[in-house]
Amino acid sequence: MVKPRVIETGEGIQDELTVEAYDIMQRHLRDRGWIETDQIIKSGIDKGVVLEIGPGPGFIGLEWPKKTEGTKLNGLEISPTMIETAEKNAREYGVEARAKYVKGDAVKMPFENDFFDGVFSNGSLHEWSQPERVFDEVFRVLKSGGTYFISDMRRNMSPFMKWFMKLVTKPKEMQSGLKSSINASYTVEEIKSILATTSLKEHEVKKLMMGFVVTGAKNLH
Ligand SMILES: C[S@@+](CC[C@H](N)C(=O)[O-])C[C@H]1O[C@@H](n2cnc3c(N)ncnc32)[C@H](O)[C@@H]1O
Repeated sequence: MVKPRVIETGEGIQDELTVEAYDIMQRHLRDRGWIETDQIIKSGIDKGVVLEIGPGPGFIGLEWPKKTEGTKLNGLEISPTMIETAEKNAREYGVEARAKYVKGDAVKMPFENDFFDGVFSNGSLHEWSQPERVFDEVFRVLKSGGTYFISDMRRNMSPFMKWFMKLVTKPKEMQSGLKSSINASYTVEEIKSILATTSLKEHEVKKLMMGFVVTGAKNLH
């Protein structure tokens, strides 16, 4: 039996010290080559103007303009402190002219219909207060044929994977946040039943060792 979800936050990560610790943690993962931007590119999100939902300090998204040509990244982030950090990191990557961050809640995106060539997000879904509304927004802001890639952890990952994630989570003060994020995350079955109620009809949910990824395209058929 999987334990019920424990809701973590509807406001994102706001506290300055936590943002700083999160930045250090993601930097550490990036330096070990454990940031999965290549999977996003392989899924077909490799050109044009793209939206990242909940970029946090930005590393996953910032690897994207570095590895693609002539592209533009828009990050939609609910936390102003995270935006400041992501902007600083964009300058560090030298891609500040191609990476723009906007404050907002993904349940009501401040973008026009049919605007983006692709949408991606990692590790943010478990924090969305109404994921079904965010999925509908992803559909709305994507151009016809545009693709999406939404990945997150899953709460029923194996005890070994939980132990392993805790082991590699540095600095140590991020470990309690990791636990609450896992407890707030969805199972594949839960996310499939949420997706079934949304406009993202042509999706695929792939189970991964630590989580899952939702991929698909708007109006392919
Ligand atoms: C756990 S962090 C993940 C950051 C980054 N994507 C990564 O993989 O390291 C989740 C991020 O999503 C943001 N977030 C949470 N809910 C959001 C929402 N409704 N709209 C926009 N951003 C949101 C948080 O503020 C936080 O920066």
